[in-house]
Amino acid sequence: MKITVIGAGNVGATTAQRIADMELANECVLLDIVEGTPQGKALDMWESMPCIGSDCHIVGTNDYKDTKDSDIVVITAGLPRKPGMSRDDLLTKNVAIVKSVTEQVVKYSPNAILIIVSNPLDAMVYTAFKVSGFPTNRVFGMAGVLDTARYRSFIALELGVSTKDIQALVLGGHGDTMVPLPRYTMVGGIPLPELLSQERIDAIVERTRKGGGEIVNLLKTGSAYYATSAAVIEMVESIVKDKKRILPCAAYLTGEYGYNDMFMGVPVKIGKTGVEKVFELTLNDDEKGMLENSANAVRNLMSEIKL
Ligand code: APR
Repeated sequence: MKITVIGAGNVGATTAQRIADMELANECVLLDIVEGTPQGKALDMWESMPCIGSDCHIVGTNDYKDTKDSDIVVITAGLPRKPGMSRDDLLTKNVAIVKSVTEQVVKYSPNAILIIVSNPLDAMVYTAFKVSGFPTNRVFGMAGVLDTARYRSFIALELGVSTKDIQALVLGGHGDTMVPLPRYTMVGGIPLPELLSQERIDAIVERTRKGGGEIVNLLKTGSAYYATSAAVIEMVESIVKDKKRILPCAAYLTGEYGYNDMFMGVPVKIGKTGVEKVFELTLNDDEKGMLENSANAVRNLMSEIKL
């Protein structure tokens, strides 16, 4: 198993570190456009392997030749948000970056599975899909796992219970219009509305929608990366170990939920071939309305992509 991470910034480096620490690959390649950064970070990580007890070989590089024949490529290259910016403000610059990165990745790893992390997420996955020409099972985006993790962590905090016992789902685009689904949220098998008032649920949903911005405002110089990289790892692990996890990912839709030719967060089965199934669930009128609102936001951004 060879996994490449493009972008050796906060998200990319932390993702590579988690891959190496968990020995999810024999070889992990960290690539960035800046000379020295991926080499320095990869060497530092490699020197931590004796303490961690992992034999994952970590290589830092600026040369796509070193990424040859990767099984999985995680794309995190691009600008992060600064305070006052929305993810959408990153569109033009990050489309250009993701386009050039995807062209190079595809040249050296024509059979790879691509996981996109750069924002605005749903538009970046669409860019990578169009540029790569890969089948839909091999291009998808990480957003829903992070949004759901935030939602679950806030519920755990509110109820004073283990994060492990909270099962939940966030649908839609990775933006302030995302759609957390309290009706499908379980705490140790108990539906969330049995345990919390509507007012508290609404507050948690709102905090989840703005969860990325909350971190940006605190950090001031960049955006979230610990939870981001942990979320990527859940997807990577499910591919590497063919675990068939059901995770919310930005997947290509061909009529599911009434949407076509676009990427948006939906529950999917992730295994060794990538996205193996898109799950559809029954939504009430309210939930459908929120999803439509989110889909419109994604479509608006897609219409601005110039490849
Ligand atoms: N090729 C390779 N790497 C690039 C390129 C490129 N064309 N352009 C930029 N990069 C690298 C930068 O040099 C930097 O090291 O991408 C890295 C981005 O790292 P950070 O600035 O630390 O940003 P990070 O927090 O990692 O976020 C990356 O993920 O979650 C999203 O919104 C976030 O779009 C952002 C992306």
